[in-house]
Amino acid sequence: MAAFSQLVIYYFSGTGNSANVARWLAKCAEERGIPARTVNIVQCTEADLAVQPETTLIAFCSPVHGFNYPPVMQAFIRRFPKGKNPVLLLNTRAGMLIGKWITPGLSGITFYLSALILSLKGYRIKAMFPVDLPSNWISVHPGLNDRTVRYLHERNKERVRKFAHRTLGGRTDFRSLRELVQDVLISPVSIGYYFAGRYFIAKTYYANMACNGCNLCVLQCPVQAIKMVDNRPFWRLKCESCMHCMSYCPQKAIETAHGSAAAFAVLFSVIVWHAIEVNFGASQLFVNDYSNFAIKWGSALALFVAWYRMLHYVLRYQWFNKALTYTSLTFYRFWGRRYKALKKNV
Ligand SMILES: Cc1cc2nc3c(=O)[nH]c(=O)nc-3n(C[C@H](O)[C@H](O)[C@H](O)COP(=O)(O)O)c2cc1C
Repeated sequence: MAAFSQLVIYYFSGTGNSANVARWLAKCAEERGIPARTVNIVQCTEADLAVQPETTLIAFCSPVHGFNYPPVMQAFIRRFPKGKNPVLLLNTRAGMLIGKWITPGLSGITFYLSALILSLKGYRIKAMFPVDLPSNWISVHPGLNDRTVRYLHERNKERVRKFAHRTLGGRTDFRSLRELVQDVLISPVSIGYYFAGRYFIAKTYYANMACNGCNLCVLQCPVQAIKMVDNRPFWRLKCESCMHCMSYCPQKAIETAHGSAAAFAVLFSVIVWHAIEVNFGASQLFVNDYSNFAIKWGSALALFVAWYRMLHYVLRYQWFNKALTYTSLTFYRFWGRRYKALKKNV
């Protein structure tokens, strides 16, 4: 007799990796005669959240962003209704390939925080499973080649299959706990990322001159973070930096403004940090390293948001747009290969 009456998988995905894992998991369940349903959390209805019988296995799957689930998934888990069901936690993270060795990504606090919240709601955590699929984060590294992408898909599909059959058969899987030490060591970065993701990373996207104002990025953004301002896309603070817009723009017009971020970093550290130090360095605000840190980084992020508004305004000038484009690594062929998860034949 099957260990579970059904499987429901809640997922979030920017470029398709986590959607694929949800699909693979569902397929394995169906092979075992367990009805399975995948629910994209950004299209989730009240009915999708109805309390399930305790024999229903629930899974959550999302990319890792800044060593944690992205805020949209964190919020979903926080709001998830109470229950006593068994739960599988999965993430997809930045896999790379050196020879035939798949270098693992870093999960950080992804599993621990979600497991804690769900356990407090009454759920029983049965597994924590990271899947090292191709990294989509071409803002920080060159895009991966086709061979690497295919290899990572094939290897991981097999891993997910084995994991699925183990856990659907009623077994647990906590082997990811072997990464506990490194996860704890990088955990402070995940707190920093929570702010930097919103106020810095989401504010590095812009459309180059190839943008024809087709509106597709606005319509397809999973979290409706993009709006058209002056006929050009503008990224709001709720952007998850999921890379969907950049990967699916038919004009390949969306770039990461590396040049602008570097110029801001230089100007800010030379002028603003210096001015803060000179004017407030001896004041009571700077009583300790923590307030010093908070004031400097808080002002950096707030000013970067203002800088982005200004940038958007100046982008209307062709010469400026060109200058910004030529200082964006994503514009260059050696770097800017857009990533989309494979859908066919894997
Ligand atoms: C903004 C951003 C932050 C990321 N942070 C991490 C990270 O902290 N650790 C990691 O291993 N991978 C990280 N990645 C890589 C993604 O988690 C990985 O490519 C994931 O499989 C993408 O899933 P998706 O296609 O479902 O969106 C990051 C990617 C992006 C875009």
